[in-house]
Amino acid sequence: MPTINEVTVPPSLELFSELVELLQDSVAGHASVGWTTVPDTREARNYWTEVLEAVGRGERLLFVATDNHVCAGAIQLALVNKQNGRHRGEVQKLLVHSQYRRRGIGRALLTELERAATARGRTLLVLDTITGSTAEQLYRRAGYHFVGTVPGYARSTHGVLEATAVYYRELAADAPRR
Ligand SMILES: CC(C)(COP(=O)(O)OP(=O)(O)OC[C@H]1O[C@@H](n2cnc3c(N)ncnc32)[C@H](O)[C@@H]1OP(=O)(O)O)[C@@H](O)C(=O)NCCC(=O)NCCS
Repeated sequence: MPTINEVTVPPSLELFSELVELLQDSVAGHASVGWTTVPDTREARNYWTEVLEAVGRGERLLFVATDNHVCAGAIQLALVNKQNGRHRGEVQKLLVHSQYRRRGIGRALLTELERAATARGRTLLVLDTITGSTAEQLYRRAGYHFVGTVPGYARSTHGVLEATAVYYRELAADAPRR
């Protein structure tokens, strides 16, 4: 099983390149993660640079799964920093490289994100994912509650508008609501 680490310092050039490849691989496999066509290397590098800048500002957590120094997957938590939302975060961009799927890495990344969220006092996680996607199966299995569906939410790599399913999970349901 790959090792999962939180990225808190600028990553090595090698890891940065693998994050670029991970994003390109996911979109090439028709994942709905913001792009309708595979981002070129420059665009993907810009994306990860912005993610890492947000990590540096304390607005976002990034976790990567590495297997023998190869990046097998990643997940992010966008931290809500509004005064009234500091107990929650949004799970984003759970990506597992196509060569590493169905080995429990996606679930392990989510578990690690939840552990870190709890440690930071984030007790409510929200997310959305394309209706009927593999990721939706994963979130359901992980105990996320279905809220509803937004039709025509995102354009797919095939050019059609697809619905998204909204989910939430309370990490510490017994905790007092601040
Ligand atoms: C969704 C994704 C992250 C799953 O990663 P993974 O490492 O393969 O998932 P896991 O092996 O941890 O699987 C966990 C559970 O998810 C479900 N699941 C994963 N892949 C599945 C598949 N192809 N079909 C059905 N269910 C699947 C299963 O319930 C699985 O549990 P099980 O193996 O005990 O049956 C991966 O397919 C991916 O990167 N997809 C493209 C990117 C994407 O769409 N991300 C979501 C953005 S919101």
